[in-house]
Amino acid sequence: MNDKLVKLNRPDAGVDLDLPLLEGSEGPDVFDISRLYRDSGMFTFDPGFLSTASCRSAITYIDGDQGVLRYRGYPIEQLAEYSDFLEVAYLLLYGELPTTQEYQEFSHIILHHTMLNQGLLRFFEGFNYDAHPMAMMVGMAGSLSAFYHDSLDINDPDHREICAHRMIAKMPTIAAATYKHNIGEPIIYPRNDLSYCANFLHMMFATPCEEYKVTPLAERALNLLFILHADHEQNASTSTVRLAGSSGANPFACVAAGIASLWGPAHGGANEAVIAMLDEIGSVRNIEKYVAKAKDKDDPFRLMGFGHRVYKNYDPRAKIIRSVCHEILNTQVNDNPLFELAMRLEEIALQDEYFVERQLYPNVDFYSGIIYRALGIPTTMFTVMFAIARTTGWVSHWMEMIGDPAHRIGRPRQLYVGHGKRDYPPRAQR
Ligand code: CMC
Repeated sequence: MNDKLVKLNRPDAGVDLDLPLLEGSEGPDVFDISRLYRDSGMFTFDPGFLSTASCRSAITYIDGDQGVLRYRGYPIEQLAEYSDFLEVAYLLLYGELPTTQEYQEFSHIILHHTMLNQGLLRFFEGFNYDAHPMAMMVGMAGSLSAFYHDSLDINDPDHREICAHRMIAKMPTIAAATYKHNIGEPIIYPRNDLSYCANFLHMMFATPCEEYKVTPLAERALNLLFILHADHEQNASTSTVRLAGSSGANPFACVAAGIASLWGPAHGGANEAVIAMLDEIGSVRNIEKYVAKAKDKDDPFRLMGFGHRVYKNYDPRAKIIRSVCHEILNTQVNDNPLFELAMRLEEIALQDEYFVERQLYPNVDFYSGIIYRALGIPTTMFTVMFAIARTTGWVSHWMEMIGDPAHRIGRPRQLYVGHGKRDYPPRAQR
């Protein structure tokens, strides 16, 4: 931060203001407009928040032009190569990488809070067998708030921490249970002796009649995808969690709101949509036709997994996933037509003027679904996988916001374009 001021001088509009200029540790400076309305009687207008920093945060840094992503200063490439998901979760929550002892304690806490209350498990009976797993996720995550009255005082830092641990620990259990409900199999209880990712695969694929042997490759692939999806600064779902939390709502309800926001195809739902799109394209022969559809302004079709609000360069997460796709797919199956199709589609789109001009590159979700499919995760679960990983980001942002004594309720204003005052007419005269 500094004490620079920026002059906003519009004599025709009666505005002559000195706006403080704030400097972050990296990234663009921002004008502090928080007193604009008080001093000028005007608001700013920025639908979709294209130019608005909604908060201060020290968690994640993105440089969209350079394709840079860092958690707490650490490049995503290094975390992807050397770290594991629980270590990254610790880093996001507490700001520093854990020592060996801190890591062991944190892992122990998370891996020993994985069970769900039996009452909560019975909620699944109310869902149809074909309920979308994300529909169940929204309901179940929010329902956690009905079970933990002992730790719901958001003004108590210990309570906040317990809530964060519970959410990170229980999300995989809920997620796997949604899948079991869909396929009509009994819910599998967590195993605390397994790692976070291995335990999730166990709860997904074991049955009471048969143990599931988690392969190290599958565990490693899941670990990588969870690290890449763990946080992404003020995206739609994280902003939703912050806005919901700003009113003092309990964190389970806030995370449920985040899951709802994530579900949309422009956000976390894209990984499911990418696979649907690749299945629809079907063959390399049809790529040109679908690229033409994506460019046609009269056609709502978009290349799913392409484009990003922030990245105007290759999404660094997509680069990492693309390179491990080869390894994972080669080990699982020799010939993966979906991956071949995706790579050819990428090649064609990246040479096309429309995509080049608009700086539309593959994003994280272009390739993540291909790996999930190779791991045997059904398409309807893809966004759920994203939600498990992003829970760490959501709770870290929620903790950062609530822990800041200066935080206030989020309350955007609007540019009103509706009717002026008019009198109520009796129904017979309308
Ligand atoms: N296919 C075709 N055209 C596109 C695409 C696409 N995937 N994405 C953007 N465009 C065009 C868009 O039509 C517009 O063209 P014009 O300037 O001629 O009107 C231009 O590119 C800018 O697009 P925008 O919609 O204004 O950009 P945005 O920043 O509001 O939207 C986005 C970003 C990710 C929602 C969008 O690129 C998109 O819908 N992509 C497909 C969905 C997707 O893959 N989402 C996952 C995002 S990454 C995971 C996550 O963070 O959740």
